[in-house]
Amino acid sequence: MSVDALPAMTRPVETAMTPEPRTSGAEWWRSAVIYQIYPRSFADASGDGIGDLAGITERLPSLAGLGVDAVWLSPFFRSPQKDAGYDVSDYCDVDPIFGTLADFDALRDRARELGLRVIVDLVPNHSSDQHAWFQEALAAGPGSAERDRYMFRAGKGENGELPPNNWQSVFGGDAWTRVTEADGSAGEWYLHIFDSSQPDFNWKNPIVWEEFRRVLRFWLDRGVDGFRVDVAHGLMKQEGLPDIAEAAASDSISDALMSPESVPYWAQPAVHEVYRDWHRVLADYEGDRVLCAEAWVEPLAKAALWVRPDEMHQAFNFSYLGTPWQAEKLRSVIDESIAAFTGVGAPSTWVLSNHDVVRHASRYGLLPKTAVPNAGIGPSSNDKPDAALGLRRARAASALMLSLPGSAYLYQGEELGLPEVIELDDHVREDPTFHRTGGESYGRDGCRVPIPWEADAPAFGFNTTGGSWLPQPAEFADYARDRQEGVAGSTLELYRAALASRSERDLGLGSLQWLEGFDDDVIAFRNGTVTVIANLGAVPVELPEGKILLASGPLDGPVLPTDTTVWIAA
Ligand code: GLC
Repeated sequence: MSVDALPAMTRPVETAMTPEPRTSGAEWWRSAVIYQIYPRSFADASGDGIGDLAGITERLPSLAGLGVDAVWLSPFFRSPQKDAGYDVSDYCDVDPIFGTLADFDALRDRARELGLRVIVDLVPNHSSDQHAWFQEALAAGPGSAERDRYMFRAGKGENGELPPNNWQSVFGGDAWTRVTEADGSAGEWYLHIFDSSQPDFNWKNPIVWEEFRRVLRFWLDRGVDGFRVDVAHGLMKQEGLPDIAEAAASDSISDALMSPESVPYWAQPAVHEVYRDWHRVLADYEGDRVLCAEAWVEPLAKAALWVRPDEMHQAFNFSYLGTPWQAEKLRSVIDESIAAFTGVGAPSTWVLSNHDVVRHASRYGLLPKTAVPNAGIGPSSNDKPDAALGLRRARAASALMLSLPGSAYLYQGEELGLPEVIELDDHVREDPTFHRTGGESYGRDGCRVPIPWEADAPAFGFNTTGGSWLPQPAEFADYARDRQEGVAGSTLELYRAALASRSERDLGLGSLQWLEGFDDDVIAFRNGTVTVIANLGAVPVELPEGKILLASGPLDGPVLPTDTTVWIAA
C-alpha cells in the first residue's frame, strides 16, 4: 500500500468553534502535545523581519488545525536580545520588537477560543546585564545589598586580576567578567554561566525568591497555563564555588553540560527547594497548570528528581533527544524514561528538536558520532547531512515519538520536515556560542531561521515585506506549509494524522507493551489499541494483519521498508 492510499491523511478541521481545550480535565499535561513557538521566527505581522506576538495570533488557527494541545512561547520579554531573549531585562513586560502586553492578552484570548493552552518561558538562572537590578548592583559597589542579588566575588591573584575560579561559560570562554567600579578602578568579578550579558542571580538571597514568586504570579494572573523553566538545573551553586575538577574542565562544553557530578554549578540538591516553593505558588491558582524543567541532567533517574510530586510536573527528556537512530538504544531509553518518570508519578516527555539543537531532520542524516546536539553545523563542518535520509528517518522518528505514552514537545517547523540551515554566512550569525568560541562552534542559528508558510510569498509568508532576521534558503519553498497542506504523504499531513489518531486513541495516557518476534533492528510495541512498528534495519519487515492508521513513508505492499514507522489498529 502506498501512503497515498492511506485513510484519513487529510481531514478538514474545524478550529474556530472549539470551545474547550482538547485535553480537558485534570492534569491535561500528562498526555499533551506541546508546540514550541520561537517568537522571532514564527510569523512577523509588523514586517520588520523579526517575528512578533501579533503574527503568532494570526497564525494560531493553523496550530489548532494541526491538532496540538498547547503552545510554549520562547521568551518575548523585554531584552537586549544578546541571547535571543534569554537575557531578560524586565520579566513582566513585552519587548517592543514582539509587541505589547495587550498583544499578549490578545494572543491568550485567541488561543483560548481555539482550545489551545499557553505556556511561557521563565528564565530564573540569570537576567540581562541591562536589568535594573544589575545596573543598581554595578552602581552600588562591593558589599552592597544590590550586589548580593547576583554572584559578585573578588578576583584571585595579587590584585584580584584572576577570575575567582576556573568555571567556563556554556557558550565558551570564562564564566566570570570583571567590572570597573564607579571610581574607575578594576573591581569585582561577576559570574555568568552563559554570555557575559547574562549575570547569574544569587539564589541564596531571599529577595531573589520573592521576586520570582512575583513574576510567576504576574503571568498566572494573566492567565497562562504554565511555565517552561530555563536552565532549571543551574540556579544553585555549590557552597564555596570550588574549581571544576581538572578532568571535567577539559571535557567539551556539551559533555560538561551533561555531567552534573563534576560541575559545581549544575544539579545542586538545594535547587529543589525553589521548585517546591513554585509548586505552592501554582497551587494557589484554580485550574491545572504546569511547570516544565529544562534540566540537562543525566541519567534520567536524576532528571526525574525535578518532577517529584511536590516539584515540577514535567522535565524535558534530553536523553531521548540525544539518542541516535538505533533500535536497541531507543528501546532502552524508552524503557528507562518510562521507569524513571513513572517512578515518581510523573509522565514521561519526549522531544526531538528545539531551538538549541540541530533539527532532527538533519541530525539523522549525519553520522551518529558527529550528531552533537548543540555545537551546530555550518559551511565548513566535515560531515554534511544527507537530506533525503535525514527526512525519511525524521518522519519515522516523529511517528514513533508521537505514539509513545506521555507528553510530547514539537519545535516549530518540524511538522514541515524543515532541515537545519547550514549555509549561513558568519556575519549573519547571532548566537553568542558562535562568537564566544571564535567560530569553533557554529551554534544554534541554523535551527532558528524563520519558517516558511507560503512558497511564493515574500519571506515565504513569514511577513509581507520579505525581511528576515536570518536569511531563509531558497529550498524553504519546497517545505512551505501551503505546498504540504492537504497533500497526502506530506510531512505536515503525517503529523496531522498522527496527532488525530493519538488523541482519538488516547495514546498519551496509554501504556507500552513490547512485542516479541521481530529483529533487533525493529522497534515493535503495542500502546492500547495501536500496534507500532518502526524498522530501523536494512531488512524489510512483514507487517501483521490490521488496518493501517498511519505510515511515515511509502509501504511496499504488506512490507515495512527501512527507516519507516507504521501504526496499525490492533
Ligand atoms: C537555555 C535556553 C537557551 C539559552 C540558555 C541560556 O538552555 O534554551 O536558548 O541560550 O538557556 O538562557
